[in-house]
Amino acid sequence: MHRRQFIGALAGLGAAGLTHAYEPGRILLAQAQPTVRRSPDVIFVPTPNEVVDKMLEMAKVTAKDVVYDLGCGDGRIVITAAQKYGARAVGIDIDPKRIAEANANAKAAKVTNKVKFVEGDLFEADIREATVVTLYLLTRLNEKLKPKLLKDLRPGTRVVSHAFDMGDWQPERKESVAASTVYLWRIPKAS
Ligand SMILES: C[S@@+](CC[C@H](N)C(=O)[O-])C[C@H]1O[C@@H](n2cnc3c(N)ncnc32)[C@H](O)[C@@H]1O
Repeated sequence: MHRRQFIGALAGLGAAGLTHAYEPGRILLAQAQPTVRRSPDVIFVPTPNEVVDKMLEMAKVTAKDVVYDLGCGDGRIVITAAQKYGARAVGIDIDPKRIAEANANAKAAKVTNKVKFVEGDLFEADIREATVVTLYLLTRLNEKLKPKLLKDLRPGTRVVSHAFDMGDWQPERKESVAASTVYLWRIPKAS
């Protein structure tokens, strides 16, 4: 195969969403990779800044914490955790537009050394290093997420949710701020 044909073949495979491996003289098709992205489970609505402050205050965030915002939107919770408390923080969002916005906002806030934004599905993300998890989803999604939180997070990890509870999991604290409610839970010791 001529060099130009070979490069053309690789471009074609990439466009078709196929992975490939090259062996001298042969292209091996490895596996078909679906390129279709899943749509968000809930649309982007930002948490008002005073509610962000309340969430981080209720979780008692310090510089020793690793804060994960699951469905991070424009990154405001993650950025505030880094800026105001010196925490390391990670945001996960399924929408690439939100990840681009969050990265731009982190750059403007000069906290890129403390934060990371990852494009992906929060239900599949590796969240095991989190010591604080923040949520602004829906009760139905919080309930769906609960088994993962209990399985992946260490005992004592704080979970705070803006506006939505966790079904029958009773919060340790519940506070009102700016016409919103913030809930706090703590991951229990495994029984
Ligand atoms: C209501 S907004 C909250 C944004 C941010 N946490 C805040 O409080 O300002 C929910 C966000 O979750 C994202 N999202 C929805 N479903 C998701 C999923 N399965 N995995 C990751 N992100 C998701 C949306 O793209 C959206 O940005």
